[in-house]
This record gives sequence, structure tokens and C-alpha cells, in this order.
Amino acid sequence: MCAATERVSGRGLLSATVVSDFVMASPQPGILRPPPSAARYLTFRLQPGAEPREALKRLASSDLGEQTVVGVGLSTVSKLGASVPGLREAAPLSGPGLSLPTTPASLWCWLRGEDRGELLHRGRWLEASLEPGYEVALVQEGFLFAGGRDLTGYEDGTENPIEEKAEAAALVAGQGPGLDGGSFVAVQTWVHDLTRFESFSLPERDAIIGRRRSDNEEIDDAPVWAHVKRAAQESFEPEAFLLRRSLPWTDGTAAGLIFVAFGRSFDAFEAILHRMLGREDGIQDALFQYSRPASLGYFWCPPIRSGRLDLSALGL
Ligand code: HEM
Repeated sequence: MCAATERVSGRGLLSATVVSDFVMASPQPGILRPPPSAARYLTFRLQPGAEPREALKRLASSDLGEQTVVGVGLSTVSKLGASVPGLREAAPLSGPGLSLPTTPASLWCWLRGEDRGELLHRGRWLEASLEPGYEVALVQEGFLFAGGRDLTGYEDGTENPIEEKAEAAALVAGQGPGLDGGSFVAVQTWVHDLTRFESFSLPERDAIIGRRRSDNEEIDDAPVWAHVKRAAQESFEPEAFLLRRSLPWTDGTAAGLIFVAFGRSFDAFEAILHRMLGREDGIQDALFQYSRPASLGYFWCPPIRSGRLDLSALGL
């Protein structure tokens, strides 16, 4: 087959695969790029009795650029009488002393950028173009801290797969047009108790994460409950690689991490979360010593075709 793959230099980003003279589906570009310095997250629900078809058609005929990532929830897909293999709602989970809330939604948009004002205006445009049909359920803002650290000061994203491995972890392949190049995203807002975190000594904090804050080195003999020991992607069978694109958030008083993980399915995310909760062996991730998830939503991120969202899997 005469296939030529075009890459955006320096970004390791699969932008489009050209086969003969037509353009095949590619991922939404914002998925594979590193987290931006500012972000706005819009979560939508369907208005009572609303039909999503026209609003989604408007979305799919718009040029969303390369800095907006769109995820479609199961309630939208089922309202259209369609199905996307692998898309499901997150199930409520519990572990000793913990129960994790789920917050299903119909649509999720991740606006990436550098300028909060520009993000606000882009968000307002999106909200208007999705009406009638969808209404905003939640708006959150995220930001890059200290070049890519969680608010606790620890570097986040170090063990993310890169280039081909990132694509293999995050993108659907081999399922055909309309699905290939798509991705599944788990979005989970964590609320930190920073005062409690600061009550731990530096060695205790390093042990919670399993890496040294000073140089980001992994601590080989970190306790079994250290976060990176619980989440070690290669220790799962099958391996549980995720493409994490999380950012800190604050609403002025509360603060934490908007955890965003793209996968070719939700399986890797769920395997890691189960182990973090202690459901495998009763040992809970030390992250829960200072942070708790307040939400969890699952969405399908459709591929791009000819510069537009490809919603053919939804019959649009
Ligand atoms: C409060 C929430 C969280 C914080 C602050 C956090 C922070 C971190 C930090 C600092 C690292 C080490 C550097 C790196 O490799 O990125 C890390 C690694 C990792 N985290 Fe988290 N994380 C959180 C939640 C989660 C959740 C919910 C999952 C998945 C269910 C997860 C999956 C992972 C994975 C897969 C790694 C890499 C492990 C490896 O293979 O070495 N994290 N996280």
C-alpha cells in the first residue's frame, strides 16, 4: 500500500495519514500534545427532552482547531440509538474507608491554551453553538504549575509513554473507519488537603509518591503503598499504559488535580484505580492520605477526518 505518514516536526504527533489521495482519520491533536499552560474544561448535560443530533452536527462542521478536545458521553450515544464499542459509564467503586463518586455527563470539552481570556471566549462560543441541545453542567479551569508539577510539588507525567508508544496506549486501532484514531478518556477531579500533605516530612512525602521531589528520581525501595509502586504500568498483566494529561486546578479555595487519562480502552485506567483502592491486595495508595476524587466521567473522543470531528460512528 502506498501510504505516507506526515508528522508535525518536534511534536511526535501523528497529524494525518495519507493513503493514495484521500485523508484517513487521525486523532484529535490535543490528545497527543503535552499539557498546555492553561485549560478550561466544559462538562455538558443534555437539556430535558433534547435531541443531540443538530448540536453535534454543528460541532462536527466547525473548525475546532488543534487545541480543543471533545469527548462524547454514553448518554449522548444512546440517545442517538448508536453504540461505540468500548464506551461505558464509570461504575461507582469503593475500597476500605473510601467510596469514589461517579459523575456521568453527556459531553466533555477540554479547551487547551495559554490565555484564560481566550479560553473563556472559546468556551462561550462552544456553549452557544451547542444550544439548543446541551447545557453546561460544570466549568473548571486548570493551569500548569512549576513546569508540570502537581500542587504538592512532584513532577507529573514522567512515565508517560511517548511517540509511537503514546499512540499505541491512547488510540483505537484496527476497528475500522469512524473508530480508528479515536480514544477513551477518564476525567477525575481530585481535591487535595494540602495542609495535611504539608504535615508530612519531606521523606514521608517522597514515600507517598515513590519519587524524590528534589530530583524526580524513583525510590527503588519505596513502600508498596507508594503511588508509583501501586500504579507501575509494566507491573500489570496485561501492561496498563495510559497517556496522562492532568493539570492542577483551583476554584479560589479548594485545589487539586484534574486527572485526565487517555486510553485505547478504559481497561488500563480501571486496573490501576482498582489496585490504588486496595481491591487486589487490601493495600491502598498513599495518595488517599491527602487527596480524594470528587468526580469521575468516561467519554469517547472521536477521530478527526478532513479537519473535522468524524461522528460517522454515531450515524452523523
Ligand atoms: C491526586 C491524584 C494523583 C496525583 C497527584 C498523581 C501524581 C503522580 C505522580 C507525581 C507520578 C510520578 C511521575 C509520573 O510518572 O508521572 C505519578 C505516576 C503515575 N500515576 Fe498518578 N497521580 C494521581 C492519580 C492517578 C490516578 C487516578 C491514576 C490512574 C488510575 C494514576 C496513574 C499513574 C501512573 C500510570 C503513573 C506512572 C507509574 C509508572 O509506570 O511509573 N495516577 N502520578
